[in-house]
Amino acid sequence: TPPRKGPVTWQEPSVSKAQRAAIKQQKPVILWFTGLSGAGKSTLANAVEERLLALEKHTYLLDGDNIRHGLNRGLGFTEADRIENIRRIGEVAKLFVDAGTIVLSAFISPLRSNRDYVRELVQEGEFVEIFVDTPLAVCEQRDSKGLYAKARRGEIANFTGISSPYEPPEQPELRVDMSEMRVEDAVELVVGYLRERGYVH
Ligand code: PPS
Repeated sequence: TPPRKGPVTWQEPSVSKAQRAAIKQQKPVILWFTGLSGAGKSTLANAVEERLLALEKHTYLLDGDNIRHGLNRGLGFTEADRIENIRRIGEVAKLFVDAGTIVLSAFISPLRSNRDYVRELVQEGEFVEIFVDTPLAVCEQRDSKGLYAKARRGEIANFTGISSPYEPPEQPELRVDMSEMRVEDAVELVVGYLRERGYVH
């Protein structure tokens, strides 16, 4: 039973996660895409979701910019805010796993301890870390949102890779460098992994 705060008790639901997942013929999992701004996390996560949809899998995509407009509006980019950002996203992702869904999440999530925290929230095999390992030089050169230029000019504080750290995963389940790989091939890699491990058929 999880720890409780105040006069609130944990209510065990009568329908289980396994039962919810079974009607979808898939194994619930969090596909956690991590990497620098502009590395291609969103692009890849969106393409994987499209592919899974074509396989008639039930998915849900949690994406950095969008979540920061709603659930996590008000959080910035200090270390404390990033930690809270990822903590909430982790809890939401866990709810979706409980609903039997394949969750795709695309956040920089620069801190190793933070990503490991989310891994610990769910059961073994329910967290697949995908390191979108596109070199900083490439992300900065692309600079699709013009943020790296601003960060270099000192107009944005705590910018990941420039003035705020990014801790690369030590043992990610998968690693892709989007400067070397086509999106379709990266999608194949991810979906191939899910097939091999029996998450989808
Ligand atoms: S984090 O670190 O996981 O909490 O970040 P995330 O929620 O994924 O948000 C990253 C997007 O916010 C924009 N942005 C910044 N990124 C990094 N550092 C700073 N200071 C910053 N300010 C704004 C940026 O567009 C990121 O988008 P992506 O999609 O990663 O390129």
